[in-house]
Amino acid sequence: MIDLIKTLTEAWGPSGYEHHIRQIIHQEVEPYADDITIDSLGNLICRVGQGGKKVMVAAHMDEIGVMATYREKKTGYMRFANIGGLMTTTLRGNRVKFEDGTVGVIGVHANGGDKLDDFYIDVDDGSGDVIVPEGSPAGFWREMQVRGKRVIGKAMDDRIGCVVAIETMKKLNKQAPNETYFVFTVQEEVGLRGARPAAQALNPDVGIALDVTRTGDEAKGAKMAVKLGGGAAIKVHDPGLVVPPQIVQWMVDRAQADGIPYQRELLTGGTTDAAAIQLAGAGVPSGCISIPCRFIHTVSETVDLDDVQACINLLTGLVSNPIEFM
Ligand code: CO
Ligand code: ZN
Repeated sequence: MIDLIKTLTEAWGPSGYEHHIRQIIHQEVEPYADDITIDSLGNLICRVGQGGKKVMVAAHMDEIGVMATYREKKTGYMRFANIGGLMTTTLRGNRVKFEDGTVGVIGVHANGGDKLDDFYIDVDDGSGDVIVPEGSPAGFWREMQVRGKRVIGKAMDDRIGCVVAIETMKKLNKQAPNETYFVFTVQEEVGLRGARPAAQALNPDVGIALDVTRTGDEAKGAKMAVKLGGGAAIKVHDPGLVVPPQIVQWMVDRAQADGIPYQRELLTGGTTDAAAIQLAGAGVPSGCISIPCRFIHTVSETVDLDDVQACINLLTGLVSNPIEFM
């Protein structure tokens, strides 16, 4: 699983430019899906099983990033715009990678530092040539690292959710009493734009998003009960989704029956693809299995391998048993 986490987190794929990461995932899941389609926005939709309840599982492929907007005439430095929720505190000295592999370093103008306009990207290769045209998208760049049970990398949000979906597909090995659609979605970080039409088209009976969630175990962190190493986080509420109590209970019952460590999650900032899925068609009861993650939206997003395994086990249990509460 470590190798898969490394491959996926290091892959390139800012929102709207998921073609590389999609190809990697497509190859990985091919043997474990009964049917695979790519819709017009680029969502990768993999069906496993037939009959029973129709379940949509969503994990987003895209990552936050930047887009080069304007080349400074004197220096050649690139000004840039954000793709998704950038925090300016994470920018100084950070590295971004463009699609052709060019690595840029983010600098800050003298006395600047809290507005996007204060920053620029150095892409100078010493030749004086323009190697990054205006309009080029980039993702942040860092290699994945392992520290015991903890794995540190860029884009854990939400490649670790993709890993949970892929590993669950492997465990199912095409055997399931439900019709489960594993959807690797596009453009979550710019407003849940991929999950919405996918859910509309699939019209599932129930939706489950897989995404990272914040932890309350940072030094002066948010007052939040979720902690790293505490198990799969079963979402109860976030600003975009009130999880129907019967969905929470379905997940809690499963975790208890299978002896899977879990914790209840109440998130006070941000939301997930489940917020979009619930509004599809005539409405879809939806929940979320969250992977606890420290330092979200930085290049050092940190997860715990036991938590990841708990999420895989919980999702596998949910979709491989008959769904009777609805
Ligand atoms: Co995010
Ligand atoms: Zn996410």
